[in-house]
This record gives sequence, C-alpha cells and structure tokens, in this order.
Amino acid sequence: AIHPVLLCGGSGTRLWPLSRKSYPKQFAPLTGDQSLFQQSALRLSGPGYAAPTVVTGSDFRFIVLEQLAGCGLTPARTLIEPAPRNTGPAILAAALDLRARVGDVLMLVAPSDHVIPDAESFRAAVAAAVPAARAGALVTFGIAPDRAETGYGWLELDSPLPPDAPAAPQPLLRFVEKPDAATAQTMLAEGRYLWNAGIFLFSTATIVDAFAAHAPQLMAGAQAAVEGAEADLGFTRLAPEPWAGLEDISVDYAVMERAPGLSVVPFRGKWSDLGGWEAVWRESGPDAEGMVTHGDAVAIDCQDSLLRAEADSQRLVGIGLRDIVAIAMPDAVLVAHKDHAQEVKQAVAALKAAG
Ligand code: GDD
Ligand code: MG
Repeated sequence: AIHPVLLCGGSGTRLWPLSRKSYPKQFAPLTGDQSLFQQSALRLSGPGYAAPTVVTGSDFRFIVLEQLAGCGLTPARTLIEPAPRNTGPAILAAALDLRARVGDVLMLVAPSDHVIPDAESFRAAVAAAVPAARAGALVTFGIAPDRAETGYGWLELDSPLPPDAPAAPQPLLRFVEKPDAATAQTMLAEGRYLWNAGIFLFSTATIVDAFAAHAPQLMAGAQAAVEGAEADLGFTRLAPEPWAGLEDISVDYAVMERAPGLSVVPFRGKWSDLGGWEAVWRESGPDAEGMVTHGDAVAIDCQDSLLRAEADSQRLVGIGLRDIVAIAMPDAVLVAHKDHAQEVKQAVAALKAAG
C-alpha cells in the first residue's frame, strides 16, 4: 500500500482574514462543503492506500482529528511538531517514523492546500509513478504551466512534452524552486518546464538517504526528535529539544534542488494551489459576470469580484465593484484590488509587528 503523509502545518497568511494562525486556510471550506484538508485526505484514501500519517502543529491537532473523522478517516499517526520548521524537517520526521513503524514503504507526501477536483485521474498519476518510486526515484508531479508563476517550483525536462504524452515518469534535468520573475518568464517561453505540484512519491529509504546526502545537518536532530517522541492522547509529540535546533527549510531547497535521480509524472487534470484570494475567486466558479459571493454577501452591479461574508460577520454589500476582493469576518474586514491580493501577506506581517 501507499502511505499518505499529509502536511498541514502552514499558516496560509495570504488568505487573511479567513485564514488565521489558529485556523489556517486548509481547514476552511473554501471551494465546497469540505475543507481542502478533507479533500486531500479523501483523495488519497481507498484501495491501495494505507491510513494517513499527518504532520501538523499542536494548535491544529484537534481540528485534524475532527475533520478526518468528519469524512470517515482515522490517521495511522498524527505527528505533532513542537514548532514549525517547514516541509524539510516535517517530511524527514514522517519518513523516519514510518520506516521505524512499518519499514521501507512508499510514502506519498501531499500538501493540504490544493484543489484537485478529479481525484480519480490523480490516483492514476500516482499509480503511474509507483514503479519509478519502487526503483528508488524521487518522483514529483508536474503541471503544465500557463503563467510565469514565481511562487512555485519549476521542473526542467529534456524536451517539451507533447500534450497527449502519457502519464509516465520522465527523467528530470533540474528542479528550480521559486525562480525570480525573469527566470520564470524564460522557462515559460522555453516550453519544456512543468510546475512542481508539491506532491511527492518516494520510498522511506530513498528519501532518508536523500536527506542524509543533501541535508545532513537535519539528520541527527530529526532522528532524535522521532526517537524521543512521546505519546499524548493518541498524538505523537516529536521531542521539542532536538526539534528546536532544526533548520527551517523546505524539502524543495533541502533535497529536490540538489538530488540527482528525480523524475516527474505529468498530471493533466486541474490543479491549483489556493495561494491567495485571486486563486479562490478563480477556483470558486465565477458566474457570467465574473462574480463569486459567499455567505450573507450581496453584490449589485458588480463584476469580476469576490465577496465573502463569513459566519457571524456583519452584512457585506458591494455596489458597482470591479476586480475587488472583500472578505468580512466578525473582527476584521479585507478590501483589496484583486491584482494586489497577494500583498495581504505583507499586511499580516505589519499587523503582527504592530501587535
Ligand atoms: N507539518 C508542516 N509543518 N507542514 C507544513 C510546514 C511545516 O512546518 N510548512 C508548510 N507546510 C505544509 C503547508 O500547510 C502546505 O500544505 C504544504 O506544506 C506546502 O507548503 P507551502 O508553504 O504552501 O509551500 P509553497 O506553496 O510555498 O511551495 C510548495 O508547493 C508548491 C505548489 O503548491 C513547493 O513544493 C513548490 O515547489 C510547489 O510548486
Ligand atoms: Mg502552498
């Protein structure tokens, strides 16, 4: 079986004020009835999949269990990070724990902030990746890019993929994490790059070896944190002291940009990282006027805008708006131009600094 490893430790500040430190975006029902986290967990369940390992922060442990139970799932393990250290340490800890618990098995690392509506074709892409992962490859999943996105990793192939290429593993020449705008522009024009979906398939042995080779500074601390972990009400708390000394680094920088033997399985289905309000607007199915309203929000003569009145917020009414994002919460309201919605991240940092 494939062991899903669900990462849900990010705080998703670009979706403020809905996404909060204590209630990040992946737990909110953003584009449907289920949260993104529930959708991700369900996508990787059923025949061929073992119960998931979840890696999360202490604040989220009960939301995680509640939301999994809400969709009929029970985690095999819920690893609690004493502090967020980004995806590098989180994945390494999950791999070490899985290896100790079950052995050398395949793990599918999945973020919990993505929208992939066609779960079946996604599972088909995972199935296509299995032989390569069994043979020792670090397998990534590639999305055909349609803009010079600087917020993603880019995957370089040796030649452009024909649109009808089968979902089979391709060797990867290079992994470029979050390029600058000019580099992204060049890669888009080149035509032989895919976006990294942020989803990975590898065996526990392969990824542990890759960390040992390319991010050896993480090994001792992660090992000690896993070996010293304590059971607490069904959760597994990684040992705080060794964990505290770990570098904050993503798996993309720690391993993927450095390791040889990467391969990519192209995924042709719809995929989106709900990285900001513009993406939520795009993925929520705007009507003919380009409008999305949610909750108690009323739009009059508005176009291409997103109006969300969250539970218990004040009433939200928009008149004559174009390209606006307005999010009303009980204690905060965001109004932004859609093209500037990414800057919410800076606003949150400024608010935090101001106390
Ligand atoms: N448990 C845990 N602990 N999870 C974490 C942590 C952490 O410290 N940091 C981030 N995560 C989770 C997030 O909640 C998210 O589900 C996932 O790991 C990815 O983290 P992001 O912070 O959202 O990464 P990103 O979007 O900037 O970049 C990654 O994803 C892109 C595609 O969405 C990279 O893999 C890129 O290469 C990729 O293109
Ligand atoms: Mg992300």
